[in-house]
Amino acid sequence: MKLPLATYILFVVLVENISALNGVWRWECSNNYCQKTAITPETEDTALSLPACRIFCSDVGALWPKPTGNVYLGSTLAKVNINSIDAMGLNFEKASHPIMTGAMKRFKQQINAKMPQRAKLADGGKTLEITCILANPDITKLTLETAEGYALTISETSDGRLNATIVADNIFGGRHGLETLNQLVIYDDLRDEVLMPNDVSITDEPAFAYRGISLDTARNYINVDTIKRTLDGMASSKLNSLHWHITDSHSFPYVSKSLPELSMYGAYSTKKIYTAEDVAEIVAYGLERGVRIIPEFDAPAHVGEGWQNTDFVVCFNAKPWQNYCVEPPCGQFDPTKDKLYDAIEALYGDMLEQFDPVIFHMGGDEVHFGCWNSTDSIVEWMETEKGWGRSEQDFVKLWDLFQNESLTRLYKKADKQIPVIMWTSTLTQKEYLELLPKDKYIIQIWTTGSDPQISNLLNNGYKVILSNYDALYFDCGFAGWVTDGNNWCSPYIGWQKVYENRPAKFAGDKKAQVLGAEAALWTEQVDSASVDTRLWPRASALGEVLWTEPTGSWRDAEQRFLVQRERLIELGVNSDALEPEWCWQYEENCPTSGKFNQ
Ligand SMILES: *[C@@H]1O[C@H](CO)[C@@H](O)[C@H](O)[C@H]1NC(C)=O
Ligand SMILES: *[C@@H]1O[C@H](CO)[C@@H](O)[C@H](O)[C@H]1NC(C)=O
Ligand SMILES: *[C@@H]1O[C@H](CO)[C@@H](O)[C@H](O)[C@H]1NC(C)=O
Repeated sequence: MKLPLATYILFVVLVENISALNGVWRWECSNNYCQKTAITPETEDTALSLPACRIFCSDVGALWPKPTGNVYLGSTLAKVNINSIDAMGLNFEKASHPIMTGAMKRFKQQINAKMPQRAKLADGGKTLEITCILANPDITKLTLETAEGYALTISETSDGRLNATIVADNIFGGRHGLETLNQLVIYDDLRDEVLMPNDVSITDEPAFAYRGISLDTARNYINVDTIKRTLDGMASSKLNSLHWHITDSHSFPYVSKSLPELSMYGAYSTKKIYTAEDVAEIVAYGLERGVRIIPEFDAPAHVGEGWQNTDFVVCFNAKPWQNYCVEPPCGQFDPTKDKLYDAIEALYGDMLEQFDPVIFHMGGDEVHFGCWNSTDSIVEWMETEKGWGRSEQDFVKLWDLFQNESLTRLYKKADKQIPVIMWTSTLTQKEYLELLPKDKYIIQIWTTGSDPQISNLLNNGYKVILSNYDALYFDCGFAGWVTDGNNWCSPYIGWQKVYENRPAKFAGDKKAQVLGAEAALWTEQVDSASVDTRLWPRASALGEVLWTEPTGSWRDAEQRFLVQRERLIELGVNSDALEPEWCWQYEENCPTSGKFNQ
């Protein structure tokens, strides 16, 4: 086809211009959506890349989680000289502040990760100076009371430097401010430049104090790098609690200083262990990312491997397993053995020393009375020593005795009454609840929202953490392994369901007793190869539920959520894809977008 001369000239001009601009597409903001549009000679000077368009066009600059206070992002972008990012003010990068030094190091790594390896940044750009002003710089523990809010302002100084100032009570709030700042720094692939808005003011604080993930590392071993990637993803979503289900009946990878035999016998291999150095590394890595690590020693059920050289465990690998536990291999502590409590005390001591936790998790789920009832020595002890029968109430007494002695030993080692989390179980039912006093125990709910235990717990003044399995069990929706067909809690839970699982729905006017929620990843069918895709980006959806406490539908959040998914990929977290990339580029057009459904 022969083109008219005018078109031909235009084409040539266009080609010349796009060689300066890496690409032929720009994005234009229209109706709050970034529209993919071809670059023309008229628009090339003002052409926006997609991330640049999103800062001003997407809801709150595509920040995730959405800030709860004021967000002002101005209307101009400035070019950043990434070789000149300085931590200036108080408490930053001082040797005395390893948490902030780590957070700052991560900030710079994240900026670099935004750019393709072949990026050849043009010279120039402004110095970015980050100042962090903390009222209580000496707070280094993230408790349930720690104030995690911050205020972030960005402006330009009279001599043309970018001034990012974060004001917070402590380093944890300061770190969140840094995370927000990071989300505002973008790589513009049209011009090979790093840009950020230069007139910003944001105030922000979380709605809930406990924003967590629980990770099982006993059904399958999860390597240290994968746990660190999990912490990277958590930091970027402002999640703050990693509950580490470190042992179970299947394996005992935790190397106890006092009882090294447990991992010698109980680990899957000599490599699949967590040494004291591993734990220290993970705890420090978590703190730099604003995440507290909460160790769980689950008992009296969920024990087995590792204890072979003791006589503390009964029903280990008993068959048919359905008679003795909820999942093979079975195993339960024998509460009648006095020496058992010395072993438990030693383990608690090791964990408290290594994790230095502000909360401890004692598990306490799925105790199977059929196991104890089938063990002659236990039944005999109950009947002759205690004069008890063999009813459910009698086995509850046995369990209470175990729980009481374990708690005594934990307090002894902690040298105080450290808060303890327990899963919902027979003990949290109405008739037995008084055995778990509310001033000592926080209850983690794993049943569904329709469970009457929930309102009973709340009405009786308990503090709770939500992990209702119908929205927060991320292992659901795969093939069964103890049954035919799909696994027990199928189907797969989409991020939309996670996003709409709101604490207020469960708690009504007792919301103040909900500390937060936790997504649970049980790893029967997951290991280091697949943890990332199970957790991400769904756990980021939970991050916003707990930080922002949104009231709108997931549809309102979808655009930003797609951006957050890309951020996770930049961080090296192998997050699942949600939609064809086409939907990300043509925001307005995919069936799930808010616009389409209006
Ligand atoms: C940087 O911004 C903060 C907060 O707005 C302000 O207090 C401070 O004076 C600014 N610093 C400079 C050098 O302009
Ligand atoms: C324990 O076993 C005895 C004897 O079989 C039975 O009568 C009792 O109901 C069992 N107790 C429980 C709690 O199942
Ligand atoms: C154990 O039980 C006794 C008797 O009910 C009680 O006084 C004590 O406080 C309990 N110990 C703990 C640690 O809960």
